[in-house]
Amino acid sequence: MNNSFLLKRYHDKEFRPFIHAADINKRVKEIANEINEEYENKAPLFLGILNGAFMFASDLFKHLTIECSITFVKLASYEGTSSTGKVLTPIGLEENISGRDIIIVEDIVDTGNTMHAFLKTLEGKQPNSIKICTLLQKPDALEHDIKMDYVGFDIPDKFVIGYGLDYDGLGRNIPAIYKIITTEEDLHRFEDD
Ligand code: IMP
Repeated sequence: MNNSFLLKRYHDKEFRPFIHAADINKRVKEIANEINEEYENKAPLFLGILNGAFMFASDLFKHLTIECSITFVKLASYEGTSSTGKVLTPIGLEENISGRDIIIVEDIVDTGNTMHAFLKTLEGKQPNSIKICTLLQKPDALEHDIKMDYVGFDIPDKFVIGYGLDYDGLGRNIPAIYKIITTEEDLHRFEDD
């Protein structure tokens, strides 16, 4: 079957369907249920990371039944001192997180550099606990010893877009995840699907 009409083209790259919207929605509900059970009576603070996590976070939050606070932050990067290394400051974090149970909501953890630096920044603010909830992770690309607590899908080390993720500003609005087509083989496999 020729599925080429399902392909999306942004800038110079082509992308093929990878994780369908229905599968994402099902998994997001499952994660929300897990969090509802584990955080009953803890009133956690969710930190959604902009821009990429906006769609995942909004769908996840609709299924939360526990008492909780929600805020979104943008991460600004700067070189810290030689002892701190790269530092990521959360812009828009007005809450005092000391003693709070934090759940970071991220779109994707790739090398883990972003999460590693952000965790260091948050730990300095003395929260009671920090857990990470990411829609996607690329285990083969991870360069840090970071434990993801809630993961939607493990994916191969390939560039993906959609459901909040972009390629140079485009593709965030697609309600499913699309994977980059890098080789002829990728395309042929897809045509056989
Ligand atoms: P890391 O620091 O390498 O883990 O990368 C984290 C950030 O890079 C994510 O929050 C995304 O904004 C971006 N990123 C990593 N992989 C992808 C991808 O496959 N598609 C789109 N953005 C990505």
